Amino acid sequence: MIEYNTYKAAADYVAALISGRTPEVGIVLGSGLGSLADSIEDKICIRYSDIPGFPVSTAVGHKGQFVCGNLGGKCVLAMQGRFHYYEGYPMEVVTMSIRVMYLLGVRTLFVSNAAGGINPDFKVGDLVIITDHISLQPNPLIGKNLDEFGPRFPDMTHNYDKQLRKKAHEIAAEHGITLKEGVYFGDTGPSYETPAEYKFYRLAGGDLVGMSTIPEVIVARHCSMRVFGMSVVTNEAAGDFAEDYENDAMDVVNAADAAAKRMTTIFKELIETL
Ligand code: HPA
Repeated sequence: MIEYNTYKAAADYVAALISGRTPEVGIVLGSGLGSLADSIEDKICIRYSDIPGFPVSTAVGHKGQFVCGNLGGKCVLAMQGRFHYYEGYPMEVVTMSIRVMYLLGVRTLFVSNAAGGINPDFKVGDLVIITDHISLQPNPLIGKNLDEFGPRFPDMTHNYDKQLRKKAHEIAAEHGITLKEGVYFGDTGPSYETPAEYKFYRLAGGDLVGMSTIPEVIVARHCSMRVFGMSVVTNEAAGDFAEDYENDAMDVVNAADAAAKRMTTIFKELIETL
């Protein structure tokens, strides 16, 4: 069980390195989406491995550092690389960075991920605003509740901020960027889903499927952060698969990378409106 003082010690370490800056926006960059951090100005990078109590990210397409600086006229703290349950960390470790961000002053969280498209209307490269989620991952709030962050039984009715979603559509329209909307279905991975599982998740109400995001959103909502979530569709997982079809992690990273510029435009302009 991670105690409050451990979160505080990690936050104090980061605060000293970014001295004088108070990040108000946190950004979690998913697989292949780390290049958004290149658009952050006046940046200070802090490796996770240097932060007391922090895990080290091992996933493909993830760098493993915080990047603090200015984006869209605001001080942001971006995670270039996140932690996944499939890497073997307990859920409280997977989500530790979100509480550290909260202690540093972050009150709005942008989360991104690469996801499989199980809605047949979704194509590789589509950007999709997350409207809700369904979880088959363990809940990160299991264990003693830390009242400093939020209540024992937090509400999850309005997780993905409606106003931010509306503004994102306006920004996308101005730039001629197509934006879709959907429900994110999360499982643990690391194996990709079987064709029958993709069908099942679709029947259950999912539009996208991935192995991340939901634990971070639950922990962010527990401490009342505003959340905006976006997926990049990196593989089409609706309908029948060709005889020679295989899911490949590098295809996922490359497809996400190709969409990172469009996502950066939307995140940056959305942050400007805050
Ligand atoms: N399933 C789970 N996670 C993913 C996928 C997928 O098809 N694509 C990208 N991340």
